[in-house]
Amino acid sequence: MKIAILPGDGIGPEIVAEAVKVLKALGLTFEMQSAPVGGAAYEAAGHPLPPATLELAQSADAILFGAVGDWKYDKLERALRPEQAILGLRKALGLFANFRPAICHEQLVGASSLKPELVAGLDILIVRELTGDIYFGQPRGRRKAPDGPFAGADEAFDTMRYARPEIERIARVAFEAARQRKRRVTSVDKANVLETFQFWKDVVSEVHQDYPDVQLDHMYVDNAAMQLVKEPKKFDVIVTGNMFGDILSDEASMLTGSIGMLPSASLNEKKQGLYEPSHGSAPDIAGKGLANPLATILSAAMMLRFSLNQPEAAERIEAAVGRVLAQGLRTPDIWSEGTSSVNTAEMGDAVVRALG
Ligand code: NAD
Ligand code: IPM
Ligand code: MN
Repeated sequence: MKIAILPGDGIGPEIVAEAVKVLKALGLTFEMQSAPVGGAAYEAAGHPLPPATLELAQSADAILFGAVGDWKYDKLERALRPEQAILGLRKALGLFANFRPAICHEQLVGASSLKPELVAGLDILIVRELTGDIYFGQPRGRRKAPDGPFAGADEAFDTMRYARPEIERIARVAFEAARQRKRRVTSVDKANVLETFQFWKDVVSEVHQDYPDVQLDHMYVDNAAMQLVKEPKKFDVIVTGNMFGDILSDEASMLTGSIGMLPSASLNEKKQGLYEPSHGSAPDIAGKGLANPLATILSAAMMLRFSLNQPEAAERIEAAVGRVLAQGLRTPDIWSEGTSSVNTAEMGDAVVRALG
């Protein structure tokens, strides 16, 4: 089992180190190989996704990714910015299906910014399309506005687009996932305004014909953002496009107590996967031992389940995380009165001990 380890920037190296520690404690045999990515790779090799890093990722059975980005690269031309590394990996490996499970551990009910009764028992799965939408649509760029009231002025533009097969395959992923859960899918769109998302809605409804045992409803994204904080437990599986999924998953993370709790898996047609926390490089807390490594550790558990065929090991990690939370150990982002504050490495050590 060959795992590519791509720590990246900011808190990336700190949180990935803890996930690697946990993987090594499982007693399984992995071949782990690290490579620079993001700003770290730009510094080392002049590009956020150097060929050697991409080749390592392509040759691995799974990729464990930290995070990329730092404000200091914001002035670089777009192709050289750290974020292009994760976008490039998703595109190059065809990782179109992004799973972001928002689960509120019973011990963290009080850490959420919502009332405990709204989040107790919460278990939502966001299925985010990851290789299309306005993120990748061409054309894009800057120019002089060719027409309209601001003709001749500088303008910038991006293109939102989805092809039928792209929508069909992510819809199937969502319906299949719902079959393992409560059999409810909410497709989130903006069909009332955007042609791309009227098409999305139509295609999802067509695919639904093959899944009569799953309940499908449609919701506009603005309403979905509101419903997520009003009555989040009404959702089971949410399927949506790349940009809406990005925004809604950060919102959903707070239902679980912290963005530091939300893992993710990004899979392609061959079930090869990239595993990363849903959050970013958090430059504001980097290097201070303040980062919560649990989203990354839980992403490693998803890796064992989805790409490495080690479901028991995945369950061991998830159970260990539950035990550590039950012991009252908390990084600052999930700390509350009566719990013990630990740093990033202490949290990783505690998970290792709790593996038993
Ligand atoms: P962010 O997710 O990095 O941070 C948002 C807030 O959440 C910050 O206050 C941060 O301290 C906190 N936070 C995030 N992860 C945490 C953790 N594990 N433990 C405790 N607190 C945590 O988002 P941002 O500040 O908007 O972006 C910072 C950089 O990260 C940008 O360059 C952005 O492009 C990049 N980014 C990268 C990824 C990725 O690599 N997949 C994802 C999101 C953002
Ligand atoms: C995420 C991040 C990325 C995204 C950025 C860093 C490109 O926010 O993984 O959620 O927007 O997909
Ligand atoms: Mn995001």
